[in-house]
Amino acid sequence: MPTPSWRRPRPDRSAALDQYRRRAGIYDLELALLEPVRRQAVAWLAPRQGDTVLDIGCGTGLSLELLHSAVGARGKIIGIEQSPEMIERAHERVRQMGWRNVTLLCAPVEDARIRGQADAALLHFTHDILQSEAALENVISHLRPDATVVASGLKWAPPWAVPVNLFVLPAALHSVSSLSGLQRPWQHLARWVDHLDVRRRLGGGVFIVRGHVQRPS
Ligand SMILES: C[S@@+](CC[C@H](N)C(=O)[O-])C[C@H]1O[C@@H](n2cnc3c(N)ncnc32)[C@H](O)[C@@H]1O
Repeated sequence: MPTPSWRRPRPDRSAALDQYRRRAGIYDLELALLEPVRRQAVAWLAPRQGDTVLDIGCGTGLSLELLHSAVGARGKIIGIEQSPEMIERAHERVRQMGWRNVTLLCAPVEDARIRGQADAALLHFTHDILQSEAALENVISHLRPDATVVASGLKWAPPWAVPVNLFVLPAALHSVSSLSGLQRPWQHLARWVDHLDVRRRLGGGVFIVRGHVQRPS
């Protein structure tokens, strides 16, 4: 009998792969209501023309169009995603749009071979990745000092906001492999990213944080 996600102390790769194997076909539809949060997250990341941006846990590539229009043809986007079913849809999107400056790596972020140093990283609704220090370490080591990092996703609302948490609980059970860390999902990022600015959305059930990678002292 597999351990349920609410009992797992940390993310579990095979559970996550199972989850997204099942969801890949309907994922874009499921996320439609949360598109305004994606737009806010990318707007806050504010990539510039010519920048290199990492789209961490890029899924089916729903952020690619926004990122691509920001960085332009001179920029670069590197998407990293461990689910073959999810990344296949991202590949299809890239083929259809004819983008030549998008590289997609099918790998766990912890082990992904990222080339060079990027200017910014987006982690949109990637709770499992935010709870993996090994994944964050790999991402941060491929960002230049002062690079911008934006992360967003589900979080517990305050306990009295019961209706909000009644939305967060099923959404989290559906999309993360461990519920641990939902109090402050950005807590591990704070190790590498200075002055995290935390914004709460949807009654506190969703967060967006932004900060800059610490410069070496
Ligand atoms: C909720 S989806 C978000 C997808 C995308 N960021 C978006 O905005 O639609 C979370 C994604 O993270 C991926 N993921 C989870 N853990 C991962 C890991 N350790 N390495 C790479 N991808 C991972 C899942 O396969 C899934 O596609």
